[in-house]
Amino acid sequence: MSFSFQIRSYEEYKRAYAKSVAQPEEFWSEVAAQFSWRKKWDKVLEWDFRKPDVKWFINGKLNITENCLDRHLQARGDVPAIIWEPNGKDEPHRVITYDELHFKVNQFAQVLRNNGVCKGDRVCIYMGMIPELPIAMLACARMGAIHSVVFGGFSAQSISDRLQDAQAEFIITCDGAYRGAKAIPLKNVIDDALVSCPFVKTVIVYERTKTPVSMIKGRDKWWHDEISKVETQGNPAMPAEEMDAEDPLFILYTSGSTGKPKGVVHSSAGYMVYATYSFVNVFQYTPGDIHFCTADIGWITGHTYIVYGVLCAGGTSLMYEGLPTWPDAGRLWDIVDKHKAHILYTAPTAIRSLMGYGLAPLERKKLDSLKVLGTVGEPINEEAWHWYDEHIGKKRLPIVDTWWQTENGGILISNLAGVTPAKPSYATLPLPGIQPVIVDEQGKEITGNNVSGNLCIRFPWPSIIRTTYGDHERCRLNYFATYDNMYFTGDGCYRDENGYYRITGRVDDVLNVSGHRIGTAEVENAINMHTGVLESAVVGYPHGLKGQGIYAYVIMDKMPEDMVLMQADILQTVTRVIGPIARPDKIQFVTGLPKTRSGKIMRRILRKIAEGEIDNLGDTSTLLDPAVVDEIKTRKI
Ligand code: PRX
Repeated sequence: MSFSFQIRSYEEYKRAYAKSVAQPEEFWSEVAAQFSWRKKWDKVLEWDFRKPDVKWFINGKLNITENCLDRHLQARGDVPAIIWEPNGKDEPHRVITYDELHFKVNQFAQVLRNNGVCKGDRVCIYMGMIPELPIAMLACARMGAIHSVVFGGFSAQSISDRLQDAQAEFIITCDGAYRGAKAIPLKNVIDDALVSCPFVKTVIVYERTKTPVSMIKGRDKWWHDEISKVETQGNPAMPAEEMDAEDPLFILYTSGSTGKPKGVVHSSAGYMVYATYSFVNVFQYTPGDIHFCTADIGWITGHTYIVYGVLCAGGTSLMYEGLPTWPDAGRLWDIVDKHKAHILYTAPTAIRSLMGYGLAPLERKKLDSLKVLGTVGEPINEEAWHWYDEHIGKKRLPIVDTWWQTENGGILISNLAGVTPAKPSYATLPLPGIQPVIVDEQGKEITGNNVSGNLCIRFPWPSIIRTTYGDHERCRLNYFATYDNMYFTGDGCYRDENGYYRITGRVDDVLNVSGHRIGTAEVENAINMHTGVLESAVVGYPHGLKGQGIYAYVIMDKMPEDMVLMQADILQTVTRVIGPIARPDKIQFVTGLPKTRSGKIMRRILRKIAEGEIDNLGDTSTLLDPAVVDEIKTRKI
């Protein structure tokens, strides 16, 4: 569908931006009016960043699935909502129209109801990239349950931590998930996780890979059996639950600088409004466009730009089950051509990886359906940007470099495709409603252009994080306490002579590996679980493919005789505790770590060594034992 909030020119952008700052309530009220509400809000915004307490569209009532589904049925019921491309090239793809998606979501919401799920209950979803994943999410949203999707690459331990934190009693999973040549046994991982989560009442299992599973009587149920029961009941209509604007829609766990991931909570209305607003404007969505986002739905990018934003706009979301490079490095381009995708939204890591295969995989690929290209998740280096521009966009397509975070719900800084100027490796300008501020370490605002510092946002936008689940103080400390009365992003940035923003990377102890956020403390905790490890310190270093690699310095109870074997052992531990995404790229065994007299590890030094800058370590005189540094330097990998 079309929305009158769609910005069509640079002049319009400037006007919209100016209004969003001068009259934010009026601005967002006009945007929100274009959605379907059960009851209109009484007041647009109340906020206090110091608590933090942010409320949008106060006392408004709605259900997001009525915006994603019901409102499209009359005009667009037979339009594809989801086109699904399977992992293997030989399996047929699936097309699910809005009518069909509405039906399936209702059916599965009824399954949830039959299994005792109530409004406000937390439901953990651990599935591969199949249409049943968004169906499960939307079914939760329809009946007011709060979903917590956990990326299929996380380990049993990570799932257990998340289940306990959210006190989730319901799980939706698959027997397995295909990823390239492998079938990952998801249900088995869930079984391992549930050893420490006896409070889980029900596990619903969708059969995808026919991987052998053990079904526990009374707890585990097959998706298809539960659907048959609903069919036997005559598929009773499942009216959408009326939700308050501020009722939580979902929790999504993300890494921070502490050892424990936090459950970012998003609201129903604010999230919906901003997800859709940003989708339509950044990608310049026009009705009929097929939007291909290659992210996994287990991350925020998939939540917003495969599921909610696209469906609220009445668009067609093309989702792919497998890997960009399997069975060959032309797979993504084949998918674009096969389904005639108009928008391609992917991560710089994927672009760099595909670049590595040269131009042969692009031979005979047309790519002529594409209108807009996008990147997300990590800074894009100029080389990758130019490759994307030249070989995929054929120098005729706009590329949007979209900067945002799990906590933001939607894109905050990006050019608008073909509407506002682009600049390689720059996210460029803030979307209307977003007020970036650059501050120095003391929190003093740095004004003017050609400046750099830490990136904060001074005013709330509708999809800002509301809390961290079960621990509001943590939310305050993480995002709102570093700088007074501002949301702190954790990112550093540079503002050029035109006022365009370039995001330079995290300034806290968070790594960005292949566009995935990983806390150094989390990886250290995992390494320290290995019996022989006394202490470890983890830092990032530049990695040609992944953006950042993980470098671990490890002290063992005694220096291992077989270093390679011990490294493999530690990698296995990290895989078990967190998952393969957190495996260090390099492990160096050391006898000590550079610490200050107060016992604090000087990561700056470790980072420099990992980056190979061993002759430029700066002042080491405050170290308790400066000799440690020489030892680390000589044994650097
Ligand atoms: O450091 C920034 C980086 O990814 C972080 C957010 O990670 P996550 O919450 O997992 O969300 C990723 C997808 C939205 C940010 O703090 N980041 C994200 N997009 C960009 C980026 N860095 C540079 N340029 C971007 N376009």
